[in-house]
Amino acid sequence: MADARKRLAGKVAIVTGAGNGIGRAEALLLAREGAKVVVNDLGGDTKGEGADLGVAQKVVQEIQSFGGNAVANGDSVADYSAAARIIDTAIKSFGRLDILINNAGNARPRVIYNLSEEDWDAVIAVHLKGCFNMVRHAAPIMREQRSGVIINTGSESGLGHFGQANYSAAKEGIIGFTRTIARDLGRFNIRCNAIRPRALDTRLAGGEGGGVAAGEKLAQTFGQHVLGNRSMSTPLTPKAEEVAALVVWLCTDSMAGVNGRTFQIGGGEVGLWSEPELIKSSFREEGWDLDALDKDAMRNYLVGDIIEP
Ligand SMILES: NC(=O)c1ccc[n+]([C@@H]2O[C@H](COP(=O)([O-])OP(=O)(O)OC[C@H]3O[C@@H](n4cnc5c(N)ncnc54)[C@H](O)[C@@H]3O)[C@@H](O)[C@H]2O)c1
Repeated sequence: MADARKRLAGKVAIVTGAGNGIGRAEALLLAREGAKVVVNDLGGDTKGEGADLGVAQKVVQEIQSFGGNAVANGDSVADYSAAARIIDTAIKSFGRLDILINNAGNARPRVIYNLSEEDWDAVIAVHLKGCFNMVRHAAPIMREQRSGVIINTGSESGLGHFGQANYSAAKEGIIGFTRTIARDLGRFNIRCNAIRPRALDTRLAGGEGGGVAAGEKLAQTFGQHVLGNRSMSTPLTPKAEEVAALVVWLCTDSMAGVNGRTFQIGGGEVGLWSEPELIKSSFREEGWDLDALDKDAMRNYLVGDIIEP
């Protein structure tokens, strides 16, 4: 019998990349709140190389140790057919799928003139294509159920982050993907939101084997270590558990009707990101040509206040 006092009693959830860091914290909290959880993790290093099912199994054991219900899966989200097996694990083990958390991630930071095609492809494959793979296989099931919650993991790196062209592109792609999935699936009572988390107690943040912190070292060397216009520093140390709290809350009925949005979490800060908007525009009946654009007045109007004196 599901314990009705728990916020997610009777729900079935998948968390990708749940063997470590933020995903592990999300899987543990989902289970504590009564969800049955598929703990997916490839079990490789931060670059995405290698595989070890033991990483996901360890988290399953942790969940079982407090009476929770979970199964392990070691497939890669980057592989379309393997992603189908992750979804099947939920259906075969628990009979339905209510919550999908796309969290799996790798990092291969390099300044653009040193970034190899392989490092570009490997990061896009796990983050961006991984989200597509998982949502593509989950969508028909949730559509038939007429319910579901999807949470995708973006990053402030998408706002602009030195040495992280592959990661930034994937992460900002995920935000655009989220906005469209929200529109594709919203009418079936399926909501899809994204987060931009901060957590320093993870492998990726720690930079083990070339993670995001390795990118930070690159950035420091070149003297630019800001995320968009936001400083890296926060008053409190960002922790994975805090990220998990927001993610689980987004899965609850308290947040019903919230769709296509991007949230900030970490270091004591929770927030809602704006959606991009056109901040200035000018209409010309004849249309714009180079001569019309190339006038001081136009330059001053459009970009005068963002050009350094
Ligand atoms: N830690 C932060 O401050 C931070 C900031 C912004 C975004 N993020 C994002 O949060 C997510 C979790 O990151 P984390 O910091 O907890 O890192 P982490 O390395 O601790 O965890 C990521 C997990 O994903 C798994 N994984 C990698 N490739 C996979 C694949 N193909 N299939 C299945 N699993 C795979 C890894 O084995 C690992 O266990 C990532 O998407 C990351 O980009 C983290």
